[in-house]
Amino acid sequence: MEFTQEIKKATDPIYRKISKVMPEIEWSVHAPYIHKINKLKKEKNAVILAHNYQTPEIYHGVADFSADSLALAVEASKTSADIILMAGVHFMAETAKLMSPEKKVILPDMDAGCSLSSSITGKDVRLLKEKYPGVPVVSYVNTSAEVKAETDVCCTSANAVKIVKSLGVNKVIFLPDDYLAKYVASQTDVEIISWKGICIVHDQFNEQEIHDIRKNNPGIKIIAHPECPPDVIKASDFAGSTSGMINYVKDNQPKKVMMVTECSMSDNIEVENPNVEFIKPCNMCPHMKKITLPKILDCLENETGEIIMDEETIEKARISVEKMAAIGR
Ligand code: 13P
Ligand code: SF4
Repeated sequence: MEFTQEIKKATDPIYRKISKVMPEIEWSVHAPYIHKINKLKKEKNAVILAHNYQTPEIYHGVADFSADSLALAVEASKTSADIILMAGVHFMAETAKLMSPEKKVILPDMDAGCSLSSSITGKDVRLLKEKYPGVPVVSYVNTSAEVKAETDVCCTSANAVKIVKSLGVNKVIFLPDDYLAKYVASQTDVEIISWKGICIVHDQFNEQEIHDIRKNNPGIKIIAHPECPPDVIKASDFAGSTSGMINYVKDNQPKKVMMVTECSMSDNIEVENPNVEFIKPCNMCPHMKKITLPKILDCLENETGEIIMDEETIEKARISVEKMAAIGR
């Protein structure tokens, strides 16, 4: 697509915001897509919900709302748009559909999955329930609708501890993230039965790396996502959901920070925190990176990648997400 003067002028305010993290030559490729997508969104009364791990051209260029997975689920239930385009991964689009079943929910790449979500099936949950009768099931939102339909209450990394405590029991089945389960166990007295799922992105960080970064950057604040291995979280100054990490930087304005998470997070918020220096050893999520501007445009133009689920699954799975939303952060 051609980068005309008209497009340059129309998209310049966005570019000025993100120029620190994007060379001009790259912008000339993105800008025509951004211009066209934003026009099409209005014509179709569509909204783009983007996860915090989306690249800066999506996060700052076309997203109407960017957030962590908890806020994306809540926003999906509130929007008045006719179409919800999820710039994120498949479980996020499914969750949006659960929260707004009457809306058309579309995902630009149906192969944008998640190692946690694919680690467990509805059948696995049924077998666990048979093995531990009467023990409530808490599932991470990073699961399929089929798993959510077998779940008592969902959680995200923003409220996992609060949700488990809210049940007032001494034992829960907590699925499927083994590290998040260990984190919850460390913050409560509840016995946790976990599953061996991991996030392929956060599992790559190790404790030695954290110590080395701290040694080479005196005074640095190191903030981690709870999907990291427990020793990484222990060696960090703070652990929280992606939005929790963003708010930590906004509120504390550390001189130097390292976000122990997916790469795009630092790029996205660096532009909003000019006084903070970001040290950026990070890992890329291959699933989140499947979402690109050309795919968003194609998805919106042709309304492809629609999330379709049977009514029974929607009804059952929605209960567990609504319970989570009611408990909140
Ligand atoms: P958040 O809920 O913290 O946004 O995390 C979602 C996710 O997939 C992190 O890897
Ligand atoms: Fe799943 Fe990890 Fe990617 Fe998040 S970062 S979508 S948990 S694989």
